[in-house]
Amino acid sequence: MSVEESFELKCGLVLRNRLFFAPISTLSCHLGGEISEEDLEFYDMRSSSVGAVVLASAYVSQKGKAYEGGIGISHNRHIPGLNKLVRTIKKQGAKAIVQVYHGGAMTLYNRDIRKSFCVSKGSQNLNPTHLYDELTLVTIEQIYQEYEEAVVRAISSGFDGVEIHAASNYLPFQFMSPNWNHREDSYGGDLKGRLKFTKELISRLKRCIDKHTSSPFALGIRLSEVDTSLEAEEQDQSFKTTLLTIQELNDLPLDYIHMASSDCLEEVQLEGRTYSKSSLLTTMSQSVPLIMCGGLLKKADVVAALAHSPLISACRPFIFLPNWAGDILTGAKEIVIEERALTGVVRQELRVPRILWKSVKESKDWYMYK
Ligand SMILES: Cc1cc2nc3c(=O)[nH]c(=O)nc-3n(C[C@H](O)[C@H](O)[C@H](O)COP(=O)(O)O)c2cc1C
Repeated sequence: MSVEESFELKCGLVLRNRLFFAPISTLSCHLGGEISEEDLEFYDMRSSSVGAVVLASAYVSQKGKAYEGGIGISHNRHIPGLNKLVRTIKKQGAKAIVQVYHGGAMTLYNRDIRKSFCVSKGSQNLNPTHLYDELTLVTIEQIYQEYEEAVVRAISSGFDGVEIHAASNYLPFQFMSPNWNHREDSYGGDLKGRLKFTKELISRLKRCIDKHTSSPFALGIRLSEVDTSLEAEEQDQSFKTTLLTIQELNDLPLDYIHMASSDCLEEVQLEGRTYSKSSLLTTMSQSVPLIMCGGLLKKADVVAALAHSPLISACRPFIFLPNWAGDILTGAKEIVIEERALTGVVRQELRVPRILWKSVKESKDWYMYK
């Protein structure tokens, strides 16, 4: 697969090439979750060559909001700002997709929430000093509806698709993980039970999309490669569970599965043998295209990743190299992130929002990697 080839998703959406800008929470929204000037400038500078931008996680309800400064899609007042951002991205030929999330138990740092929802009270992942309400069938139904309403807002804002955030310990992940989920009803137990919430969510969102759209609109999902809440010696088992999860999702109306990984070109050891991680993951995903992500910077990395999966994404390279996708496509120069003084002038030149810039400065090596 060649990076500059176009790609048609099952829904009919045509991407001009194989490159996605992976979600990056820049924490630069207004307090009410509305898009700011900083957000618009950041994406304006980074959408000229990429196939699609996946806008970072947007909370579907106030009760699901995990952190301040994030994007809101929980209220109709968010639509005008989102629409402005969509137009900024799409005028440059890129498709615009928004990642939607509910934080579940991860909302404990949201000061407006006295009690967070949790999948089951028995989980050791819960903070003993925080209050939780275990999700009932009634509250689960309310959450499905909140996701559906968020999808309708995404459609009204002009997006080309939504991506369910089922990675990074957010609510669908909390259902899927045996560490978070000790439920004894049909939403718990074996992998089938633990996947019930996610599968039902996908089916409901697809029905909602079909009802409210007449043009192609993508439905994707983001999955973690492993359950980081498990011990190191359990990670092998966790990777195997991810493989089975991908297999289980194959029959569902998904346009893509977007993997979240720190290094997608790594090899993995399974039962004493060495495998390419990407090829194992792709083998499990027979009918849904995978987007591989993590640690891709140079053209050779992208070419290696595309040998296994049809689509790839990158996140950190876009911070210092706003036209990273253009550089990959032309292949004209060797791509490096040069060490530079992280001054305010450089921040303004790169249009990086202030809070993101602060974390870049604090973990410099992680951002200026390779
Ligand atoms: C500052 C920052 C914020 C991120 N926010 C999100 C997010 O909102 N949703 C998500 O799925 N991943 C998020 N990620 C993870 C990235 O999408 C990506 O998976 C990760 O950075 C590895 O890819 P990379 O090596 O190309 O950076 C974030 C990463 C960074 C650095």
